[in-house]
Amino acid sequence: MAVYKVNVATGDVLQAGTNNSISITLVGSRGESRRKNIRKKLVDDELEILKEHRQKELKARQEHLLPDAGKGDRWVPRVSSPTSRGEEGPVAGGQLGADIQPPPLVPDYVARHWREDDFFGYQFLNGNNPIVIRRCTALPPKFPVTPEMVAPSLGGGTHLAKEMEEGRVFLVDYEVLEGIPSGTIHGRQQHVTAPLCLLHQSADGLLRPIAIQLSQTPGPASPIFLPSDSEWDWLLAKTWVRNADFYSHQLLTHLLRTHLFAEVFAVATLRQLPSCHPLFKVRSHLRATPLVSLGVTGGHWGALEALGVTVGHWGVLERGLESVTYTSLCLPDDIHHRGLSHLPNYHYRDDGLRLWEAIASFVSGIVDFYYGEDVVVSGDTELQAWVMDIFTNGFLGRTSSGIPSSLQTVQELSKFLTMVMFTCSTQHAAVNNGQVGQGTSDPSKNLPIQPVPMLEGCPHPSPVHVGRTSPTPSGERPHPPHPHARELSPSLSSPLLSSPLLSSPLL
Ligand SMILES: [Fe+2]
Repeated sequence: MAVYKVNVATGDVLQAGTNNSISITLVGSRGESRRKNIRKKLVDDELEILKEHRQKELKARQEHLLPDAGKGDRWVPRVSSPTSRGEEGPVAGGQLGADIQPPPLVPDYVARHWREDDFFGYQFLNGNNPIVIRRCTALPPKFPVTPEMVAPSLGGGTHLAKEMEEGRVFLVDYEVLEGIPSGTIHGRQQHVTAPLCLLHQSADGLLRPIAIQLSQTPGPASPIFLPSDSEWDWLLAKTWVRNADFYSHQLLTHLLRTHLFAEVFAVATLRQLPSCHPLFKVRSHLRATPLVSLGVTGGHWGALEALGVTVGHWGVLERGLESVTYTSLCLPDDIHHRGLSHLPNYHYRDDGLRLWEAIASFVSGIVDFYYGEDVVVSGDTELQAWVMDIFTNGFLGRTSSGIPSSLQTVQELSKFLTMVMFTCSTQHAAVNNGQVGQGTSDPSKNLPIQPVPMLEGCPHPSPVHVGRTSPTPSGERPHPPHPHARELSPSLSSPLLSSPLLSSPLL
């Protein structure tokens, strides 16, 4: 039998190489040999010298990527040195778009419409943070909205219980921000709210807010705001929700759930899979997103300084990580879990599911080719070490998350790989790419705003709705107070109007 020696060369310049799959087929006059793929699982390497080579490669990488046990330092998703900016750093929200000039279409539209209820609701579906809204089938006790409060917003011939039962009421809850310490900027104490917002899908299919509470504790200091309040009060209530959404988006939806998880997947891949492993190619789908993590000390962190550098940031990240589930990372499951399969105009869902299916189809082809049977998956010790590394060091071994610690079937492997690739590509694009267009044109997003006058001693108990009488932007007389409203102390209206937000040229 003839022996052929094949050399594959990709050049000797920096980063020369290939992410393509290389295979060899011997073509002769009487036919072709079976396609021989160079990538191999551990079990495919029959020669001891090749097995040793795999182990040596991993050992060399792990020396650089394993934590230093002597310092008690555990490898966890890593945030890049936000502490270097110091407590009094400048507000840098505008830096997000400093080097990128987006087409003016989106910023212009946002600047013209950000105050409108329709656009406020639309942003929960297709804005930068489309993963926090969920169907509301029963109001939580901490948000005591009464049917009478929202009846005018629902229209005639229906009521709140009926709308909830038929799937037209939705809730956004920023509980993760409750009690998070806030920082100071130029000596001024900042404030962060943990609001609840109830939304309704109207007969025209549009989503609109119908009630807002700016804290998690109902009571005298936390009234429920309604669209029938005065224009300024309703606008500022929405602004505080949008402001909380900014923190939730930037720290959790964007940084934690795409950048830092991509870092988890990338490091585990480098630590546990030799370059000849068939799934080592997954790293080519992980390269861009974690690398950007190294640059989050710019506009991202600057805009988040109202939370207080380190304490507030880490508190939100730790809480966010505790609540991450495997379901929430897999779009089809996530949509079903949040009860949003039927909601119209949810383009994030519709486009995302198409891309999820495309990735799943691609992944299935690769997995079926290399694995084929469940026993091959469960028997791949390198693959199992990879999954366990992600489970242990990325998700801190929390079984309640549903994140698998091992993979037993071809189907399980395909779903897990699809989740990894979707998170680092599609999901990141969905929550990242709109920042410049939407974020920089909406004054309620990048600005730490202050103070929270409605939380500073309002004497009116919840669930009694509090109507407002502060002047409207145009100087018109305020809307009539809600039938159940009581007048607020005039002293609480002036801080609203002195907010730096209101001096924005966009207003
Ligand atoms: Fe990003």
